[in-house]
Amino acid sequence: MRDHNSATILNPEALQLDIAALRAETPGCRQVVHFNNAGCGLLATPVLTAMVGHLNLEARIGGYEASAARADGVRGFYTELAALINTAPENIAFAGSATHAYANALSSIPFEPGDTILTTRDDFVSNQIAFLSLRKRFGVQIVHAPNTPEGGVDVEAMARLMRAHRPRLVSVTHIPTNSGLVSPIAEIGRHCRELDLLYLVDACQSVGQYPLDVEEIGCDLLTATCRKFLRGPRGSGFLYVSDRVLRIGYEPLFIDMHGARWTAPGEYRPVGTAARFEEWEFPYATVLGSAAATRYAREVGLEAIAHRTPALAARLRDRLETVPGVRLLDRGPQLAALVTFAVDGAWQPQPFKEALDARKINSALSFREFAQFDFGDKDVDWCLRLSPHYYNTEEEVAHVADAVAEIVGGGGR
Ligand SMILES: Cc1ncc(COP(=O)(O)O)c(C=O)c1O
Repeated sequence: MRDHNSATILNPEALQLDIAALRAETPGCRQVVHFNNAGCGLLATPVLTAMVGHLNLEARIGGYEASAARADGVRGFYTELAALINTAPENIAFAGSATHAYANALSSIPFEPGDTILTTRDDFVSNQIAFLSLRKRFGVQIVHAPNTPEGGVDVEAMARLMRAHRPRLVSVTHIPTNSGLVSPIAEIGRHCRELDLLYLVDACQSVGQYPLDVEEIGCDLLTATCRKFLRGPRGSGFLYVSDRVLRIGYEPLFIDMHGARWTAPGEYRPVGTAARFEEWEFPYATVLGSAAATRYAREVGLEAIAHRTPALAARLRDRLETVPGVRLLDRGPQLAALVTFAVDGAWQPQPFKEALDARKINSALSFREFAQFDFGDKDVDWCLRLSPHYYNTEEEVAHVADAVAEIVGGGGR
């Protein structure tokens, strides 16, 4: 990944986006002020067209026949995502969710009692639950690297823990669901490569928001959804599997007739590509929609997206900072387009969000059970999350900040 704070490496012309045109291609922009892209981005028209077109084709000629007729389009899922993250199509597996991709990846690691999983205090909730489940079943130990006082993982301390524990797995979430923190995944990856440690990255909130390069990150496995900043459909995600992991022969615990060949009554052989992490059945309209969304993001330009999207969020933070009763919660040296804040007073989470819903402003809530360490450290039980994307406007940022000020100023419920 590049240094997204530095304008010097960027070509200013390539950073200009035609926001009006991009909004015209986003039907949802005419309905709502969508500041919930960290939940699910708004679909662009080409994505919708690809999906609806395929469903119509399935209805007309049959589901199996439709996927055969669109085989080239389906291959586009792999070629587009491979180009997006700088790998080969054979290293990409489709998954129905980031969590499914992550669980499949974990299931391929032959954990033994006493093995260490080294992670951070800001790793995604479901990953933390999966580690606890592995601890319960296999007796692995979970080690959390400490954070710096500024926020975010202390990379040097994490590297020391790598040397001390020789973990079976190092796992880092690039951007958590519950704050704007961006973790230095490439810096951590350099330590993993130096020590030859297996490295899994959760890039769910960063794919489609920042350029990602798996070679630069140095990861063995990477998981993401397509529905958030990539603006793909719900029920889509992917797993990147490095050649190294494929060569070692890692395979998911439950591998099917797509991921393996049944070569003799008592034998099977996993396929040589990341397809060994997939299943036979695919939601083809979703796969085609994800391919279209990835193509769309690449056409818009990841550098331009990474330039504009966190900047809109920073603008929102600047506005919210001046609102009495609002406490911004995002910490760390680099912040993404997830803006989180707590509100003073009597407001309860659901009524607060409903007050925004009533103004057609889409937002999301995060709770302590999504982020036991982070919310414990920040001493909050819930927060509101606002996550703009490049197609949002500066006027919408002002409108949302004014709405928050009005709601907080009106007292709590
Ligand atoms: C950082 C992060 N990782 C993983 C996930 C899980 O993604 P999915 O819902 O596609 O399983 C999320 C969802 O919010 C997330 O924010």
